Amino acid sequence: MKLYFENKLGKIYHSDILDLTKEIENESIDCIIADYPFSYLIKNNKRITNDEILETFIFDTANEFYRILKPYRILAVFWQPIMMYKFSKHFSNKFDVLNIICVKNIIRWSWKYLPYHYNILMLVSKKRPPKYWNRIKGLTDLWDDCARGKLYHKEQISPTVVKRILEMTTKENDLVLDAFTGGGNVVVLCQEMKRRFIGCDINLEALKTTKERLLWKI
Ligand SMILES: C[S@@+](CC[C@H](N)C(=O)[O-])C[C@H]1O[C@@H](n2cnc3c(N)ncnc32)[C@H](O)[C@@H]1O
Repeated sequence: MKLYFENKLGKIYHSDILDLTKEIENESIDCIIADYPFSYLIKNNKRITNDEILETFIFDTANEFYRILKPYRILAVFWQPIMMYKFSKHFSNKFDVLNIICVKNIIRWSWKYLPYHYNILMLVSKKRPPKYWNRIKGLTDLWDDCARGKLYHKEQISPTVVKRILEMTTKENDLVLDAFTGGGNVVVLCQEMKRRFIGCDINLEALKTTKERLLWKI
């Protein structure tokens, strides 16, 4: 685990997420955003797609997220539908499920059967009712209006989605864990919206982009 970048509001680690969470104290995080990789994970520089290993990874990360999240706070899990179908039980077994949101994808991922056209956002809380839930007027569980934003990472989460999660579930100065930082949409919005943040990704190239964005506000 290596601290890659730090500023007044946050820290970014070049690390496997499970090496980072080991260092985080129990019940110290106000909100977690986990934008899981699409059907793979990277371990010891290898791209792994084996379902059993993925399942263990999801199970272990779900346990760690539960341990470090403060009670009555929210975890937002963003994933590709088949991943959710296979593995979401590891979250619903521990957390209270608040909403399952369908987010229309701007990018249509090709796939050997039908192309993916939506992603799933699961909002779960560690104990219900959540402590902060700022309702956004008119918003339902179908988000078909989310901008793609400038492309910084090929699997990036829409900035509209991130902004809504932060607005609904956090307030200024809260500490947000961005478990899979990628090109940085979550931490950049945390900085703009004055939330403290911890970012983490195993891919150094992606973190270079994130650092530039945080430094130059691009
Ligand atoms: C869906 S992308 C995240 C995209 C990011 N939220 C954005 O908006 O740009 C998933 C990320 O997980 C990272 N990743 C894969 N395995 C990991 C691991 N074991 N620990 C930490 N990060 C990992 C990948 O490098 C990839 O950047």
